[in-house]
Amino acid sequence: MSDPIDANKVVVLTGAGISAESGLPTFRDMGGLWEQYEITEVASPEAWERDPQLVLDFYNARRTQAVAAEPNAAHQALAELERRYDVVVITQNVDDLHERGGSSNVIHVHGELVKARSTADPELIYEIGGKEIQLGDLCEAGSQLRPHIVWFGEMIHNTDVAVAEIRSAGKVLVVGTSLSVYPAAGLVELSRAGAEKLIVSPDLEQEPVGFDWIRGTAVEHVPQIVQRWLEGE
Ligand code: APR
Repeated sequence: MSDPIDANKVVVLTGAGISAESGLPTFRDMGGLWEQYEITEVASPEAWERDPQLVLDFYNARRTQAVAAEPNAAHQALAELERRYDVVVITQNVDDLHERGGSSNVIHVHGELVKARSTADPELIYEIGGKEIQLGDLCEAGSQLRPHIVWFGEMIHNTDVAVAEIRSAGKVLVVGTSLSVYPAAGLVELSRAGAEKLIVSPDLEQEPVGFDWIRGTAVEHVPQIVQRWLEGE
């Protein structure tokens, strides 16, 4: 017997596209991060072993940029939606724009730029805000600190809770993701047939089954969708 759908629960799955209109680069659009950098050089355990300074430089630059950015109308609208619904934001993003936009229940599956963790013990996690991580910055157990980011080849965070939330959602809104990185992208396949499902993106490789594609940007469409849902439509 599968868990019941909760008509009052809205799960929002977001990717880099929702932060694009806050000035943060996406990964796979023209000029995106993976056009400027090699993933294998800055975002993998092998990269860390080979050149930790290059990895720290990459994430220090992204952290500085992310903490200087402001939440946009899409982030803020999702916070507004909490007035009427139990809203869970599951984000692939490592910026803190959902939190600063007012969302109170944000699940990060790819980590967070504003945190650092011990290389020796993944349970030792530290809030660092916009601070840089340098070689020689050590955890309380004496091992080097690293970005609290999920690198390619590592296990994503919070999978169980993300799966449980999306399986019980009466409404699923996907915003600003190419759905190209699993297992995060696979979450949409766990949404239930009876749920209302929308995906907002200016372009889309393939429409996830059962989702209505709203073509355009997060700022163009998310506030309108939120308004409609707040009015009970
Ligand atoms: N509003 C909404 N969507 C947008 C906007 C916008 N203003 N601008 C771009 N997009 C869409 C693009 O069309 C694309 O579908 O956002 C998506 C961005 O896709 P990616 O760059 O692949 O980012 P994302 O899906 O978040 O990547 C997933 O890949 O590299 C890893 O860990 C990284 O979390 C990231 C994961």
